[in-house]
Amino acid sequence: MDAVVVDAGSKLLKAGIAAPDQAPPLVMPSKMKVDVEDQELADGAVVEEVVQPVVRGFVKDWDAMEDLLNYVLYRNIGWEIGDEGQILFTEPLFTPKTLREQLVQLMFEKFNVSGFYASEQAVLSLYAVGRISGCTVDIGHGKIDIAPVCEGAVQHIASKRLEIGGVDLTNLFAQELKKSNPSVNLDVSDVERLKEQYACCAEDQLAFEAIGSSCQPEKHTLPDGQVITIEKEGYIVGEALFQPCILGLEDYGIVHQLVTSVSNVSSEYHRQLLENTMLCGGTASMTGFEDRFQREANLSASAICPSLVKPPEYMPENLARYSAWLGGAILAKVVFPQNQHVTKGEYDETGPSIVHKKCF
Ligand SMILES: Nc1ncnc2c1ncn2[C@@H]1O[C@H](COP(=O)(O)OP(=O)(O)OP(=O)(O)O)[C@@H](O)[C@H]1O
Ligand SMILES: [Mg+2]
Repeated sequence: MDAVVVDAGSKLLKAGIAAPDQAPPLVMPSKMKVDVEDQELADGAVVEEVVQPVVRGFVKDWDAMEDLLNYVLYRNIGWEIGDEGQILFTEPLFTPKTLREQLVQLMFEKFNVSGFYASEQAVLSLYAVGRISGCTVDIGHGKIDIAPVCEGAVQHIASKRLEIGGVDLTNLFAQELKKSNPSVNLDVSDVERLKEQYACCAEDQLAFEAIGSSCQPEKHTLPDGQVITIEKEGYIVGEALFQPCILGLEDYGIVHQLVTSVSNVSSEYHRQLLENTMLCGGTASMTGFEDRFQREANLSASAICPSLVKPPEYMPENLARYSAWLGGAILAKVVFPQNQHVTKGEYDETGPSIVHKKCF
């Protein structure tokens, strides 16, 4: 049986048997509802609680992670107890060593996997577009990871994580909609869906500033019949990626961050890195984002302007959303057949620290 590849994001878990050139067979929310006994209520009363195993990219609740993977591997993918296969996980930038060890331990001790591998999302996203060098800007739900990669190795000293992600844009959108539609009651999932539909980027900062007067209001009917009017709010959400001060942060915009990050790598790599910039993650698929990014990149003060990688035609349409998983599927076809993975025997002999020796 081919290996399973798992990219467990803060919002979406992507998983499935490694099949390069195809979108992941399973894409599901990583948040789960669980039944818990409430001590404050009458004996035995059970209430539903939402648990979130992954927060801002990192596993925060290992019991919830185990439940989630139980569902994914045994119920969805069809592993059988006693006959588990091999597994490859994608890892976000700056994953602490202890988290890597906890994951490998969970996999061998609770899931009895026959082989394990983990690799960084930035490296995998570049594999998905057929590159080993370049720079990824991964804008997911919990964070933005900017990572220059030279010949398959993430340049950690030059990499940068910004604690801004889709979740913050959803909160910003909720706040803005509340101001303009004070009588409408919105829950987070409504706002998130509306954000995915209406958030967009203006051509440039001047165009954004001019929008207030020229924007056509759009009316949207919610599933419960309430009607909401959306005007400039969608643009404010997109603008926050280029002007983080909108979110109350002092950070520079995303293009400036990319150029600064690359400037910390040895200069011989600058051209290769900047001219192979890859935008990925769900938030990067926002309407107008790529055009705005390229426009700002062309105006940047950097001697070499960043330019974006064109995805190969044979790859799935929404490659950028799933690039880490797709790259994982490509790598799985190499590491497991060539025995570069952590085997059960090696794990039993060395323990969880084996992951740092074998997966890099
Ligand atoms: N068209 C869109 N416009 C704006 N945001 C979008 C759009 N489509 C998806 N998103 C957002 O993308 C995010 C999900 O992206 P992704 O799957 O890359 O995140 P993740 O891998 O779960 O999170 P992370 O990598 O940060 O841990 C969500 O916040 C979602 O609302
Ligand atoms: Mg992600």
